[in-house]
Amino acid sequence: MRMTVVGSGYVGLVAATCLAEIGHHVVCVDNDIEKIATLEAGGTPIHELYLQELLSRHRGGRLTFSTSLEAAVRNSTVIFIAVGTPASATGAADLSYVETVARSIAQCADGYKVIVEKSTVPVRTNELVHRTMVQEGREWSEFDVVSNPEFLREGSAVTDFLYPDRIIVGANTDRAARLMRDVYAPLLDGSYAQQSGAVPKPEKARLEPLFLETSPQSAELIKHASNAFLAMKISFINAVANLCETAGADIEQVRKGIGTDRRIGTDFLHAGIGYGGSCFPKDVAAFRTVARDLGVSFGLLDEVHKINDEQRSLFVKKVRSALWTIKGKRLAVLGLAFKCGTDDVRESAAIEVIKMLLEEGAQIVAYDPAATERAKTILGDSISYASDAYSAAEGADALLILTEWREFLQLDLKRMKKVLRYPVVLDGRNLFTAKQMNSAGLSYYSVGRRPAEVTANTVRTAPRTGAR
Ligand code: UDX
Ligand code: UDX
Repeated sequence: MRMTVVGSGYVGLVAATCLAEIGHHVVCVDNDIEKIATLEAGGTPIHELYLQELLSRHRGGRLTFSTSLEAAVRNSTVIFIAVGTPASATGAADLSYVETVARSIAQCADGYKVIVEKSTVPVRTNELVHRTMVQEGREWSEFDVVSNPEFLREGSAVTDFLYPDRIIVGANTDRAARLMRDVYAPLLDGSYAQQSGAVPKPEKARLEPLFLETSPQSAELIKHASNAFLAMKISFINAVANLCETAGADIEQVRKGIGTDRRIGTDFLHAGIGYGGSCFPKDVAAFRTVARDLGVSFGLLDEVHKINDEQRSLFVKKVRSALWTIKGKRLAVLGLAFKCGTDDVRESAAIEVIKMLLEEGAQIVAYDPAATERAKTILGDSISYASDAYSAAEGADALLILTEWREFLQLDLKRMKKVLRYPVVLDGRNLFTAKQMNSAGLSYYSVGRRPAEVTANTVRTAPRTGAR
């Protein structure tokens, strides 16, 4: 089928590329001329596994890029809206981009179109898009508005799109629902996975995803409720971690103990400095606003947000208690991205912790495998940047781990002890165990577990290297 995806961000670009991969002809439209030029020239503005291969496989063929929405809409039956829905100052989702795009589609559509909300939007946005189309003169019979929320995790967005647990379609007519079933047919019948050159199926992926056809309102709520539930799981385990610290329990044992209950599961139960990213913080805030606007109390979401916020300051307090004072201390930070596997730093807890440490007068050298360039747009030269973990740690008073990059697990801890000025590690993502750290002669502080300090006589007195 011929389709348009409006928005070439983390969601729009992945959706456009994967829709081309499963056989459709896709035009990916964006009003950011530079972004489109980069994509047409063969660049990939975001860091996602398999994205580069699929882009080069389909660019210029089934996948083209454009800044002209009009031409794309005229040649498409299905138009996905995947533009930003950032949080406004009040926390409500800012839908101005969605409205702009909906109006433009209405003004240039000719013939029956299915407008698909791919961006995360508050419940009842579908009705507003529908009303906008009518306001712009479209007949009811000329279009349908469908809610088709995405559940892509950054770092695994391509596999999450091609091997989803479920595809949710909120539609008001059978015609639109049938069309959406056709859009996703190669994923629904499992035939895509059999194709030669297909992106490999993750071992835990379902053979055939659920295709849930429901009302637009339910589809919109499913998205917000999903993200809010996952954020709640994280805040819950962080609250339990704080209890563990006071009670002398071990959060990783508690996680195993509760997570082995199939109804709970161990996923999204990793304690740390809390969640970040362009979705959870925004979607929890938007969901709280939806509840308030509908006059329904949903205080639980306020707690989810509050616990998450406090995790950052609790970690800074941990750094202070481990180092006595922070002012003038040189701290090595591993991790700037909001999570492993991505270069995205939006709402990154790592960056929020860094800002709090800078406020207390720390000097920071940071290393991240992918997010340094994007972090520079936020932190600039307020910190220094290292090209690897060991040079970041050179002469530092402590090492902080703030993003759960898998590559940090391979660190040579004995070598780390040699380069650090003091053998102190503060792990904001519980990547290590006290045993691993202490056997390398390092004192270890983490979340939801007791401090594990090595005896004073092993403290290094290496000469301070010059400030960078
Ligand atoms: C966005 C929303 O932020 C998220 O809540 C939703 O789940 C999916 O869509 P993301 O793709 O990360 O997520 O947004 P962003 O990276 O900001 O990309 C949006 C793109 O739309 C940008 O490239 C922007 O240039 C483009 N855009 C925005 C348009 O083409 N036209 C517009 O009118 C506005
Ligand atoms: C999330 C949802 O998982 C996805 O379904 C939705 O479409 C978009 O939002 P994303 O934000 O890309 O995806 O990443 P995710 O893997 O969910 O992590 C979000 C944040 O939670 C990260 O900051 C991560 O570090 C943190 N996290 C995750 C925890 O602190 N503990 C955990 O156990 C899991």
